[in-house]
Amino acid sequence: MKKTNPAIFALKGTVCFSADQTHLCTYDNAYVICENGRSAGVYPELPEKFHGIPVRDTDGALIIPGLTDLHLHAPQYSFRGMHMDLELLDWLNNVTFPEEARYADLEYARRAYSIFTDDLRKSATTRASVFGTLHTDATELLMDLMEKTGLIAFVGKVNMDRNSPDELREISASASYEATIRWLEDTAGKYQNIYPILTPRFIPSCTDKLMSLLADIQRTYCLPVQSHLSENQGEIAWVKELCPDSAFYGDAYDHFGLFGGEACPTVMAHCVYSSDEEIALLHKRGVFVAHCPQSNTNLSSGIAPVRKYLNEGLHIGLGTDIAGGHSLSMLRAIADAIQVSKLRWRLVDDSLKPLSLEETFYMATMGGGEFFGKVGSFAEGYEFDAVILNDRQLPCPHALTAAERLERLIYLGENDCITGKYVSGNKLF
Ligand code: GUN
Ligand code: FE
Repeated sequence: MKKTNPAIFALKGTVCFSADQTHLCTYDNAYVICENGRSAGVYPELPEKFHGIPVRDTDGALIIPGLTDLHLHAPQYSFRGMHMDLELLDWLNNVTFPEEARYADLEYARRAYSIFTDDLRKSATTRASVFGTLHTDATELLMDLMEKTGLIAFVGKVNMDRNSPDELREISASASYEATIRWLEDTAGKYQNIYPILTPRFIPSCTDKLMSLLADIQRTYCLPVQSHLSENQGEIAWVKELCPDSAFYGDAYDHFGLFGGEACPTVMAHCVYSSDEEIALLHKRGVFVAHCPQSNTNLSSGIAPVRKYLNEGLHIGLGTDIAGGHSLSMLRAIADAIQVSKLRWRLVDDSLKPLSLEETFYMATMGGGEFFGKVGSFAEGYEFDAVILNDRQLPCPHALTAAERLERLIYLGENDCITGKYVSGNKLF
């Protein structure tokens, strides 16, 4: 039976959240109130009107908004941390496509996806935008298992009808279209927390005919879209050959109406090599960028100019991109984003300053959270996603500020530091 949460309760501890892109708010020994699944604010003392509500005292632990993983591939979790000696296109052909083909076997899918969802549940991630495979049944199974985690997530059945081996290619655009409709009809109204997202793998995997059919589905079902953009130079050159009429890579999605805009919220992973024209269109269409620093390092893709994207006012969050990235930890993604920005500054372009802790924490909370609505903050009215981080396992001989403790947890925190998690007011643990 589903546990019901109290309509109103408080967490007590050291509360940290972003005021905006460059400022962190911290409150020692404070109360953050959840009322009907939303934050009712942070208070140094419990206000009189809240006296008597249940309080979970974390004994001085850090309480942060839940983290949003804006881009990852569930079927690739099985080979994370392996085969890191290849670049994108060879990695897809030699490692990723053969592994994803195994998800035709539902028993294999159940084993693999159970491991993935168990680990995701224990992580600091509260929201995620997830790729499945092209298989309808395995993707439905993934959605069932994701629902059980208590996270809120978009999950996509992948569409791909060209440039991959027979065992991982839909036989035609119309077969891909029909499988997608079946998936949407099968899962309609089935879940509380899991939502479908249209998932053309990337331009090289999708014929023009498939893209037009997906645009029809997008309009009919009002679905958001996730895909990949300007990740690797070989990939970009290939898209140029495949789409001679497109001015740039993003334009190839835009041509079909699958690149953001009012009715089509879109998240594009990577954007390592987006041209000024592409950046302008990302901005115009309100497309979210999922920056995936660990993946971009492992696959030798490059370093995205995130400082430029922040300056341009793009929507931007962080992704692990499992299994381009090997770690499911969004704390690690924050540290990686800072580290690669320093290398980019030193080695590529000294006019683009490295990212600060405040900026990357913002990206992991409010930046990515915005793809889900009012998510990623404890400001009043935000959905109550919270993670309790206990740093008792990380003793230090001198006193630390809240911001220092957060920084240390980002660099040093492992799963054993994550001692509590709430999603939209629901307690997971
Ligand atoms: N581009 C197309 N498919 C993929 C994928 O699975 N991972 C990454 N990193 N890039 C892609
Ligand atoms: Fe990816």
